[in-house]
Amino acid sequence: MSPRPPTPLVAGNWKMNTTVGEGLELARALRDALDGSGVEVELLPPFPHLVGVRGVLQGSSLLLGAQDCYAEDKGAFTGEVSPAMLVGICDDVLLGHSERRHILGESDELIARKLIAARRHHLRVILAVGETEAERLEDTTMAVVDRQLRSALESVEVGDGELVVAYEPVWAIGTGRTATPAQAEEVCVHIASRLDELLGEVANTVPILYGGSVTAANAAELFAEPHIHGALVGGASLKVDAFTAIVRAAEAARSGDAGSR
Ligand code: PGA
Repeated sequence: MSPRPPTPLVAGNWKMNTTVGEGLELARALRDALDGSGVEVELLPPFPHLVGVRGVLQGSSLLLGAQDCYAEDKGAFTGEVSPAMLVGICDDVLLGHSERRHILGESDELIARKLIAARRHHLRVILAVGETEAERLEDTTMAVVDRQLRSALESVEVGDGELVVAYEPVWAIGTGRTATPAQAEEVCVHIASRLDELLGEVANTVPILYGGSVTAANAAELFAEPHIHGALVGGASLKVDAFTAIVRAAEAARSGDAGSR
C-alpha cells in the first residue's frame, strides 16, 4: 500500500507587498474566509507585519510563516532577521526562494546554513527549489533540483512534519506562464524520489508544493496530480477571492483523494 499523502498546504507568499495596515486588513479577510479549512493554509507576509498578523490569526487554523531568515542567531548582521527572533511568532520559514537565489545572490551553501539555523529553533522549513529557463532549455532541470536539494538537506536532521519542499520553476514565477500539470508533476515525482534517498521514511511526511503563476483557474488541474500536495502562491495570494478559490481547489482535490482510497 502506498503511504498516505501528506496534508496539503496552500501558502501565500506576499513578497514585498502591502503596507502594515493593508496587510492586517488582508490577513483579517483571509482568516474570515479560510479559518477551519480542510487543508493547511499559511500566510507569509513581510517581516514588519508578522507580529500584527500573528494577533489577527490567533485562535484560527491559519499558519504564519516568514519569507526568509538569516543563518545566525544574533550579532552584527545589519538588516537581517534571525530564526531565534521568529520563534513564538512564526510556524514556518521559507528558504531558498528563487528571488533570494537570483536577485539577492544567495548561494546553495548559505541556504543550507540558514536551514540548519531554522531547524535549530524548531521552525518548519519550506525549501524552494527550481530551475531557470536557460537550465530547462539545456535539459538540466533535474540536475539543478538535485543539487539544490542535496546541498540543503545533506547536513541537517529533519523529522516528521518539519519540512515542506516547493518546486518553483523560475520561468513560471510572476510571469503568467504556469508549468503544465504534466511538467510540474514530472519534477515533483523526481523530488519525491530524491527526498526518499536523502531523508528515508521521513520523506513521506514532506508535502511537495508547486509554485509559479498558480491562479484560481489552474489550481484544480495542478492539484489533481498525485505528487503535488498544494501550492506556494505569490501574486494571487494578495487577492482574497483568488486565494480562497485556490484553497477550495486543494480541499476538493483532497476529498477526491480520500474518496478514491
Ligand atoms: P507567483 O509567485 O504565484 O506570483 O508566480 C510564486 C512564488 O514566487 O512563490
